[in-house]
Amino acid sequence: MQFLENFTPELTIASPGRINFIGEHTDYNMGYVLPTAIGNKITFKFQKNGSDTHCNVYSLGYEGFALDLNTISISSIEWENYVLGVLNEISKLTDKVKGFDCTIESNLPLGSGLSSSASMECGLAFGLNELFDLGLSKMAMVKLSQRAEHSYVGTQCGIMDQFASVMSKEGNVILLDCQSLEHQHIPINIHPYKIIMLNTKVSHNLASSEYNTRKQECEEGVALMKKANLAITSLRDVTREMLEVSKSEMTQTVYNRCSFIIDENKRVLEMASAFKENKLETVGEILYEAHDGISKLYEVSCPESDFLVEFSKAYPAVLGARQTGGGFGGCTLNIVHEETVEQFKKEAASAYKAKFDIELEAFEVKPSGGTSIV
Ligand code: GLA
Repeated sequence: MQFLENFTPELTIASPGRINFIGEHTDYNMGYVLPTAIGNKITFKFQKNGSDTHCNVYSLGYEGFALDLNTISISSIEWENYVLGVLNEISKLTDKVKGFDCTIESNLPLGSGLSSSASMECGLAFGLNELFDLGLSKMAMVKLSQRAEHSYVGTQCGIMDQFASVMSKEGNVILLDCQSLEHQHIPINIHPYKIIMLNTKVSHNLASSEYNTRKQECEEGVALMKKANLAITSLRDVTREMLEVSKSEMTQTVYNRCSFIIDENKRVLEMASAFKENKLETVGEILYEAHDGISKLYEVSCPESDFLVEFSKAYPAVLGARQTGGGFGGCTLNIVHEETVEQFKKEAASAYKAKFDIELEAFEVKPSGGTSIV
């Protein structure tokens, strides 16, 4: 793109991906989650270009597009919608954004369940906030990025990813209550263990449609249980006893979805306590238990993720593992003793190659800080 010839960026922003230790699909059910940002990130460079409304966005090594701030609408090219969605949401809050040029560079594997989408949205919002002095709070950027995903990308996501991308602190996980948005940073020290991500490299394309279906199934459960108890507004208000009372009225599928969310919320609080008390074996057990629910009750796993989690169980040096993120592939998160990391990575890769003929990607992540100026 032409603007690259005279590009002299005045602002650089790093926007991280995230992992979630526990609390999968609980965010849009008003429950708890336990995520943190990681070192893998998307880097944005910005310059004002002097135009009122003309903007250029270029993803390095990939492709670019130009846009006019006065005529923003949904694009048929998926990734452009992360940019357009954020600009559309910002335009509802302020008219201070003017013409800008921006390059984007990522070392966050796309579609791997590490939330490259939130990282894109939040990095852009954060950068424009700085560049044009928009005066948006961090929470405003989190929420507008989530709305951008709903309206332009079409995934009815919860708030976890955007929250983790912006609000994380190095060395900590965030215990977030997605209903009240109250949160605590919990320092974690897992030495001599490491967090090893195994990227299945599959992202089954039913992911986004099934995501919205899961949300609807949970809402169906809530609507049925509300008949017996008007005070229920989300699965957050539902106890196991309430679920059992209404069981006969719901399909087995809706029952299983609700059942998973109730257990998963409990697991978040249990794991947060286990981290505070440094009980890493408990953290590991909870991971395995959660994966079982992800696979059998919520049904958002896939053969590749199930295989890797099962594979890890043969290693006493692996405390626990589960698929992380929205589901249907992406990465499994493994807590592995440092002495066994290399052996585990190597053996997992060769077993995975033999089974699926896919080159596994294995890498360590560390709890890192949220979106920031570089
Ligand atoms: C995706 C969504 C999040 C969350 C997870 C599942 O990453 O963006 O809001 O629902 O899936 O926990």
